[in-house]
Amino acid sequence: MEDRFRRILVTAALPYANGPVHIGHLAGCYLPADIYVRYQRAQKRDIKFVCGSDEHGVPITIRAMKEGITPQEVVDKYHAIIKDSFARMGISFDIYSRTSNPVHHETSAGIFKKIYDQGLFEEKETEQYFDEQAGVFLADRYITGTCPVCHKPGAYGDQCEKCGSTLSPEQLIDPRSTLSDAVPVKRKTKHWYFPLQNYEAWLKEWILEGHKEWKNNVYGQCKSWLDSGLQPRAMTRDSHWGVKVPLPDTEGKVLYVWFDAPIGYISATKELTPNWADYWCKDDTKLVHFIGKDNIVFHCIIFPATLKAHGGFVLPENVPANEFLNIEGEKVSTSRNWAVWVHEYLEDFQGCEDVLRYVLCANAPETKDNDFTWKDFQDRNNSELVSVFGNYVNRTFVLMHKLCGGKVPKLHEEVMDDRDRLMLEEFRLTAARVTDAIEHYRFREGLFEVIDLARKGNKYMQEKEPWILARTLADRPEDQKLIDNCMHICLQLCANLSILINPFLPTTARKLLHMMKVVEKMLEWENAGKAKLLSVGYTLRAPELLFRKIEDEEVAAQINKLNAGKISSPASSPAAEQPAQSASTATSPDIVEIVEKPAITVKDEIIFDDFAKIDLKTGTIVAAEKVPKADKLLKLEVDLGFEVRTIVSGIALHYTPEEVVGRQVVVVVNLAPRKMRGVESRGMILMAEDAAGKLHFVAPANHIEPGSGVS
Ligand code: 2FM
Ligand code: ZN
Repeated sequence: MEDRFRRILVTAALPYANGPVHIGHLAGCYLPADIYVRYQRAQKRDIKFVCGSDEHGVPITIRAMKEGITPQEVVDKYHAIIKDSFARMGISFDIYSRTSNPVHHETSAGIFKKIYDQGLFEEKETEQYFDEQAGVFLADRYITGTCPVCHKPGAYGDQCEKCGSTLSPEQLIDPRSTLSDAVPVKRKTKHWYFPLQNYEAWLKEWILEGHKEWKNNVYGQCKSWLDSGLQPRAMTRDSHWGVKVPLPDTEGKVLYVWFDAPIGYISATKELTPNWADYWCKDDTKLVHFIGKDNIVFHCIIFPATLKAHGGFVLPENVPANEFLNIEGEKVSTSRNWAVWVHEYLEDFQGCEDVLRYVLCANAPETKDNDFTWKDFQDRNNSELVSVFGNYVNRTFVLMHKLCGGKVPKLHEEVMDDRDRLMLEEFRLTAARVTDAIEHYRFREGLFEVIDLARKGNKYMQEKEPWILARTLADRPEDQKLIDNCMHICLQLCANLSILINPFLPTTARKLLHMMKVVEKMLEWENAGKAKLLSVGYTLRAPELLFRKIEDEEVAAQINKLNAGKISSPASSPAAEQPAQSASTATSPDIVEIVEKPAITVKDEIIFDDFAKIDLKTGTIVAAEKVPKADKLLKLEVDLGFEVRTIVSGIALHYTPEEVVGRQVVVVVNLAPRKMRGVESRGMILMAEDAAGKLHFVAPANHIEPGSGVS
């Protein structure tokens, strides 16, 4: 952390208490925030992690209407479900509060009042849409119509989700009430507007000049808002649900939910600690907001501008927003039930919390929208967690019990070789890389490095072959020293793995601690990269299973569940979507694509000898990069066991380099070399093409050593 900071305050977007949370929410902000916080705690930094339910606003009242219950009953129900899901997923908030708490009402009303008293709001009477059938003013999402920008139907009074334009209700073409479908009429009403335009120059300076290091997606969105010019924004609404406007004669008016919700971070900190002002009002606090991309403008522009107007509060140092996570190639849609609900996952995959954390982080939408598929979930579990990480730890413990009497053996320095030294050096290098990645919010990369260390451990053990040395010990008793060295290094690597994996997979880290019979203190980050963590002669426990295999049937059941739950009726109220991944809001009616299947042809028959000429072997992609000026080509380095080869493959339109590294593949190894765009390709990777033209890797169902024959 930068020297100028003495404490950190991490916030994660307050989810609307109008439905349970789905895995898109986790991947969007709660998991990255939790990884960051767990890492900072291991660094022994002064850090607080606050969150809570966002219990006001239109989504709650719409859900109440849909379920025929009161808004209070809605938030009570979902607050409990959400809180429980987070706790079971190991999201380690210091406080999970709720905006219906009195302290929040007082805090947000107080901040509004101070801005009002300074004369900074503009009071305006305007004509707004009113639903005569329902008898209410229609704000934001209560109105839909055709977007004036992209001309698509289904835009809301505040935003068109088809083209992303920010709108006001008056701009909608053919507006309708989402409550009654009536054509709304205009009625006069008074509201308090925050003059965002007065803060434009300051915001430009603060963000565009001062925070060029923010993620591209965040910086880019801020720039485009600021470049198009800011407008006054109403900070009050006509409603009976929310924080009451703290001014006389304002019955039926509440604070705009996006005015009060971010203040929920302050109220939650107040509830958490009497020292809350240290975290909010001292310049040496590093404030970091974790959010989904649909919340960027509120956290980077509107909330900071209101804090600035109020005065006395710190501003965010960073806002590492993620993009959205789609499911099986489609946008999450809560109204169509196209989502993987966290509370359901926890029932279906008991004891597999870390697996979901792993998959969501390994595949996190850090720079672009990403896709979650159950097949990928299974593959990553079986071939990375089980075959690489779990397998490495298990082999180490089994061999240590078999070859070293269940104790940490001595390191005999006199017989250490370069390979041993290189492996130890790798601990240090990996720790430095993971640290840098987490400090800079690149959690995917950090996690990859940890798994890669386990992969390197497997390779080291494979090369050292202590089990072979053990066979000839009677003739060569001095080889026990070599066995000891290998097992000593492998065990110290397990200790390092527990420290490095802890922010990502906390349950796994604790299982490792139990096996090594060491206390939590070892997980402190200052120990990461150290070569001497476990004491020589210390007795360790028998290995326990870290991860179990995920079976085909379990994956099939989940896919069936998704498809069965899919409500295809486009008539279901789009406004009932649960926004934010903070959720994604796919609202378009289902589009049925009729794809004509191409005829499947079979090539001419060949004899076995023809087939036998093809030498197929398994390999692991260890590095990948784009081939310059060739859209379709990736240059891959493939470990074939006996050598690492360069292979150029035409898969760049289907996979990014990061997505393919670590994958097992099947390679035609005796294909004559070919130059492509100046790069010599020595072999070909087998891919299967589906009806839509998407390429899929052909790979062994379970991880096996590179260089294994395929026939
Ligand atoms: O998008 C959402 O889910 C909002 N409830 C997030 C609010 S974040 C903060 F400002 F409280
Ligand atoms: Zn539009």
